[in-house]
Amino acid sequence: MQRIIKDFHSEMKKGLAGSKSSLKMIPEYVERPSGKEKGEFLALDLGGTHFRVLSLRLKSGRKTEAPLSKKFILKKELIKGSGSKLFDFIAECIKAFIAEQKLGAGEKYNVGFTFSFPTKKKNIASGLLIRWTKGFKAKGVEGKDVVRLLNSALARKGVSNTKVVAIVNDTVGTFVTRSYKDPNCDMGVILGTGTNACYCEKIKNITKWKGGRTSSGEMVINIEWGNFDKLCLTAYDKQLDSASANPGEQILEKMVSGMYLGKLAGLVANSLIEQEILFNGQKKYIFCKSKNFKSEYASAIESDTSGKLSRTNTLLKKVGIKNSTYADRKLLQRVCAIVSRRAARISASAMAAVITKIDPHLSGKHTIAVDGSVYEKHSGFSKKIKSALIEIFKKKASKIKLKLTKDGSGKGAAIIAATV
Ligand code: BGC
Repeated sequence: MQRIIKDFHSEMKKGLAGSKSSLKMIPEYVERPSGKEKGEFLALDLGGTHFRVLSLRLKSGRKTEAPLSKKFILKKELIKGSGSKLFDFIAECIKAFIAEQKLGAGEKYNVGFTFSFPTKKKNIASGLLIRWTKGFKAKGVEGKDVVRLLNSALARKGVSNTKVVAIVNDTVGTFVTRSYKDPNCDMGVILGTGTNACYCEKIKNITKWKGGRTSSGEMVINIEWGNFDKLCLTAYDKQLDSASANPGEQILEKMVSGMYLGKLAGLVANSLIEQEILFNGQKKYIFCKSKNFKSEYASAIESDTSGKLSRTNTLLKKVGIKNSTYADRKLLQRVCAIVSRRAARISASAMAAVITKIDPHLSGKHTIAVDGSVYEKHSGFSKKIKSALIEIFKKKASKIKLKLTKDGSGKGAAIIAATV
């Protein structure tokens, strides 16, 4: 963990200087919210298995009304088809949401767009997609300004009462939502289908920045930490990477996030099956081309406390393993626990690196806003991160608070739209 922290610091510095680095360190054109934001705003959230639209009313005194929101499933054909189809679908969802919520037809809504992919920004309202991640492949989008693509789709679908005024990463939305209420918050983290983090950096440290001073002297930086690659890879990591949609990229993400944890545990299990250590020589694989060993399964197996691991047995039957012994199930449980423990320790090291970049001696208090299915739901994950932070910082770890910030990415985009 200490080695990861050291290498992370060095990659962060290079990224901030604009030199070659696995960390892109993207200036987001966003600062901490002032608390003066007011009005009704729309937010869009694209980046995982669903697309979400929400409307949020901000009142004075940093108060918000409960947001109205709707989720739409993103089918495989959409994320792997043509970009214009994907954006047409998004525009239709927005149109349906506006009609359903009876949002005033005569009014114009400013929209904050959470787009959770590495995006190069020229200002707050434009973002060029650098590269798809998390299995997204829609054609004709990489290298293009996604706000433009969305605006054209909205025009095609006849939606005229919206204006996309800000595009932000989901980590930034999560950070802004928490820091709206908590002045100690200086970092936002997503541990979900993908993983990433952002933090508040002093302008003087962003040596590649040419944009002049900001009012606070700070700027939110999207680290894109999923791409960090100074890590020791096992044979399973290499196998997973080479079979992925983006070999050689998003190395940390492939060891940590929900899209891959189950696959990794499945690959380790497959190797034990191959060596006839698991399932008594029956060559029945729990993970292969046609079968996905989901991260939810790995989490359920890890947390199984039922007698003889009978819940694991039921789950194994579901993935086609009819006969397993208690020893098999115990071994599989151990594999799942090891994979998620490593993921939590890598995540904690990356968090520790960012916090010590901001405050090398941990003199102050720090809140880290965290969202995502792995952090929220994966068995014991948040506890494992906390114990790794204690291992790193000893008593001083109590200065760091991790706060689950659910749906922060959507709410934060609405708050950011209000600052524009
Ligand atoms: C993307 C990031 C995003 C993260 C979490 C990664 O694959 O590159 O931009 O923040 O997933 O959604």
